[in-house]
Amino acid sequence: MEDGLQRFSLSGRCALITGGSRGIGRAVALAMAAAGAKVAVCARHLDACEAVAAEITARGGQAIAIAGNVGRAEDAVAIIDGAVDGLGALDILVNNAATNPHFGPLVDAEDAAVDRIFQVNVQGPLRLVGAAVRAWMGEHGGSIINMASVGGISPEPMIGAYNASKAALINLTRTLAHELGASGIRVNAIAPGLVETDFARVLIETPAIHDQIVGQTALHRHGQPDEVAGAAVFLACDAASYITGSVLVVDGGWTA
Ligand SMILES: NC(=O)c1ccc[n+]([C@@H]2O[C@H](COP(=O)([O-])OP(=O)(O)OC[C@H]3O[C@@H](n4cnc5c(N)ncnc54)[C@H](OP(=O)(O)O)[C@@H]3O)[C@@H](O)[C@H]2O)c1
Repeated sequence: MEDGLQRFSLSGRCALITGGSRGIGRAVALAMAAAGAKVAVCARHLDACEAVAAEITARGGQAIAIAGNVGRAEDAVAIIDGAVDGLGALDILVNNAATNPHFGPLVDAEDAAVDRIFQVNVQGPLRLVGAAVRAWMGEHGGSIINMASVGGISPEPMIGAYNASKAALINLTRTLAHELGASGIRVNAIAPGLVETDFARVLIETPAIHDQIVGQTALHRHGQPDEVAGAAVFLACDAASYITGSVLVVDGGWTA
């Protein structure tokens, strides 16, 4: 009889994680490597990616580092080709990198900030999916995981353009699931709540904001990056073989 836990393994799989050098992406890279995957860690700063790759290697895993800016059209193919060439395949793509240069009322958001948010958080993931399908997944299948946010489902004030980008990411996750399902490619999103990273530092370190969020959260605390990573490993593995087009909320019950 097949060992039931085999379906939770990523052994022999090759995964690319954008924004893998710190925060949630780093935790996903470490968790996928621990589950047996060969991992490509991508972010703009190569040294930070190399540090995570070295951490994985020191733990007995296999990892490479790739420098790239997901907000630049010219980087998309290079990032995907770097992963396919360096790993030998690309079974898992985690679109995790994101940005939010605007904090304040939505009507005050500058065009340049909104453009940047949509370039990095929406167009970037979409370009990487296209490049991944053309380079590998279209022929071999795969699992794509888009890191959205509960803000894309139930938006809070002050980060409206970012929330709109995450709503767009969730929407295109569903369309891609329909369009790519016949090629054996599953496409899902994860919607984290408040997680302790550099990205969320202002929210966590501003007591008025933090207390309000934690007060509405069933578990009465914010999350840690490795509490999101397990959801990514699950969606990537064969145990999730009939899950596509879904949004897995990982928010401690904030939106429950
Ligand atoms: N933390 C939260 O509370 C929270 C909640 C909901 C959703 N999320 C989502 O979770 C994901 C990860 O967030 P995080 O909190 O872990 O952020 P983080 O700690 O700030 O890490 C961001 C990562 O993305 C990379 N990055 C940023 N811009 C990039 C670009 N243009 N191209 C390539 N890489 C880029 C960064 O490295 P470089 O600077 O070297 O590029 C870094 O590795 C994001 O999609 C975010 O929207 C976070």
